[in-house]
Amino acid sequence: SSLHSALSRSSSHLARRSYSSESCPERKVAILGAAGGIGQPLSLLMKLNPLVSSLSLYDIAGTPGVAADVSHINTRSEVAGYQGEEELGKALEGSDVIIIPAGVPRKPGMTRDDLFNINAGIVKTLCTAIAKYCPNALVNMISNPVNSTVPIAAEVFKKAGTYDEKKLFGVTTLDVVRAKTFYAGKAKVPVADVNVPVVGGHAGVTILPLFSQATPKANLGDDEIKALTKRTQDGGTEVVEAKAGKGSATLSMAYAGALFADACLKGLNGVPDVVECSFVQSSVTELPFFASKVRLGKNGAEEVLGLGPLSDYEKQGLESLLPELKASIEKGIKFANQ
Ligand code: NAI
Repeated sequence: SSLHSALSRSSSHLARRSYSSESCPERKVAILGAAGGIGQPLSLLMKLNPLVSSLSLYDIAGTPGVAADVSHINTRSEVAGYQGEEELGKALEGSDVIIIPAGVPRKPGMTRDDLFNINAGIVKTLCTAIAKYCPNALVNMISNPVNSTVPIAAEVFKKAGTYDEKKLFGVTTLDVVRAKTFYAGKAKVPVADVNVPVVGGHAGVTILPLFSQATPKANLGDDEIKALTKRTQDGGTEVVEAKAGKGSATLSMAYAGALFADACLKGLNGVPDVVECSFVQSSVTELPFFASKVRLGKNGAEEVLGLGPLSDYEKQGLESLLPELKASIEKGIKFANQ
């Protein structure tokens, strides 16, 4: 309104506010599995994100409480809780980004693939609803095994005729977060300055951190690189064992999930040069899905970047991860089509 713009001109404070509302479009984010171990802290972190205008918290149980609690925080977004499958449509409608941490986590001795039987069905149900209620949203898949749940989602969307490969992401940000932390510790460099790409997939040896490309550079020996690689690959298991039956990473995962969703929102809003690693449809290797650096933009994954130069150790790691990753992808595709 002209009154508003006159007021805006009259005070730098109001001018700033009017600028920030123009540069900050309405964005709805839905979290599916919002009452869980990851879902709750992730709901908190997304409530703190000023890019979000509407936060939709969905779970089969417990969301009224989580939503009421988070809604009292005096930040931008409106919060609504939705409980049970009959409210899933409302939870999804109009979403720009959907984050999925729904499903069971690991207990000691389990691999991520051991979760397949339960989580594959949950992901299939949720993605069927996404295809129906918000086919244009960016989907951030956290539910494990990511190496299989992302192909399941792709197949569900293909069947529904809504698949857009630019809009489906397996969240591997926690692997990057871990690689950065562990590298900074070993290399004795400030952790906030560290960058390490992590490629491949999101389970055991399919997680391939590229420490040869880590910055700031450090002169680490082969044994140190091997130990760092192994620790990054086993980071999830380290937490599963420490929690001794009470689940897997939730707090660090919520942080990583919030970081990746924020990157997606920035991309949608037209912020240039937003690059994060993610498990996406890919032609970087012969496999149909692969994690590597992805440039995020107004349509989602605008560009899937290549691997860059690899050390001999990383080349070996890449060769040896391909069969396992291939099998996990095929398992997901098969499940979705049965
Ligand atoms: P949790 O058991 O604490 O929470 C899962 C939530 O999902 C529960 O609130 C449950 O009610 C909900 N849920 C179950 N079925 C649902 C459905 N059909 N629709 C909506 N919600 C449903 O588990 P946690 O620790 O939060 O882990 C969730 C998932 O995230 C697991 O699959 C775990 O393996 C995965 N994960 C992924 C990581 C990654 O790096 N991508 C890292 C850590 C965990």
